[in-house]
Amino acid sequence: MRIAKRLQELKPSATMAVSAKAMELRAQGKEIISLSVGETDFPTPEHVRTAAKAAIDEGYARYTQVPGLPELREAVAGYFNKTTGTSAEGKHTIVTNGGKQGLFNLFQSLLDPGDEVLVPSPYWVSYPAMIQLAQGVTVTVPTTSEKGFKASVEDFRAALTDKTRVLLFNSPSNPTGAAYTRDEIDAIMEFALEKGLYIISDEIYDQLVYPPAEHASLAPWWEKAPENVAVMNGLSKSFSMTGWRVGYCLAHEDMVKALSKIQGQSTSCVNVIAQKAAIAALNGPLDELKAMREIFMRRRDLLLDRLNGWSGVSCPTPEGAFYVFPDFSSLYDAARPDSTSLCTWLLEEAGVAAVPGAAFGEDRCIRLSYALDDAALMEALDRIGRALGLG
Ligand SMILES: Cc1ncc(COP(=O)(O)O)c(C=O)c1O
Repeated sequence: MRIAKRLQELKPSATMAVSAKAMELRAQGKEIISLSVGETDFPTPEHVRTAAKAAIDEGYARYTQVPGLPELREAVAGYFNKTTGTSAEGKHTIVTNGGKQGLFNLFQSLLDPGDEVLVPSPYWVSYPAMIQLAQGVTVTVPTTSEKGFKASVEDFRAALTDKTRVLLFNSPSNPTGAAYTRDEIDAIMEFALEKGLYIISDEIYDQLVYPPAEHASLAPWWEKAPENVAVMNGLSKSFSMTGWRVGYCLAHEDMVKALSKIQGQSTSCVNVIAQKAAIAALNGPLDELKAMREIFMRRRDLLLDRLNGWSGVSCPTPEGAFYVFPDFSSLYDAARPDSTSLCTWLLEEAGVAAVPGAAFGEDRCIRLSYALDDAALMEALDRIGRALGLG
């Protein structure tokens, strides 16, 4: 069968590949604990589920406006205003099929062939593929665990060329959990704007930042430079709604129009029931999120304690999201020379699924998610420790 050339070079998602392998082993009767998940293990809040049921009963069944129900766009603007102090309006927002579609369409709207995007590495698996499909070029900006996996102005400057068009920012980060401080962000933004770059900020984990760290959003910078900044976010992680597929962007009105043009010709709009539920989520109380955050923080500490107690393994403290990204490279050997072979071996020998760091551009590390209960988490660590003789 003939498939378009641009797809032949596209890599399938590595995280999905790990899940597929874990499912295959489960089907063979093996008991697998998955530390590869990218979604919370909490239910969607009850008031959000109730709003969805009511929307069905009230007969919501039709297409909505392409950029989203006006009431939801107001709720999105309201969420930014209450959490970041902006004075955004509904017209500055668009509702997308998950944050993923927002990002995808931003790259489609911004990049001409050969335009470069600065992407701090380790990076989320989908960025390079999205950039490639928009005919752009990913220029990675390497970071190190010693510096908490954060890129500095100097790191960005070293990667800048006359083709650089976009700087992509993801704080807190998947896979490292690194969360930038307000001062760090301000310095990077001053640099990026001075160079005339467009900045995309992926803030999908905004509600999952652990004290004393605080989430520093780029939304206030959107307010200062609306033509150069877009903030992408969504309900997937914060409201435990991955399968509902609701994301959104905050951007200049002209960018919102561009994004709507693509959406209008591709997916039309987001599912209306999910949009009605999203209004309840964004306008509702945020206390359940606080409880979830506290549980995640405790799990993170449990995990770090174990990992850093293993000789040869090191892991900086992630300040957000629900992943740790430890360096296992001192345990690589002839049989398991890299993160991919180590993860395959852990899956087969220890029954634990983890994602190879190679998928995120850092082969020394592996990504472990702590979006599962304490008992399963501890059992998974026991298994890894036993399999690798770490105790
Ligand atoms: C860093 C990052 N950005 C964006 C997304 C997209 O999330 P969604 O499309 O579910 O809103 C994810 C999901 O895993 C992510 O980890």
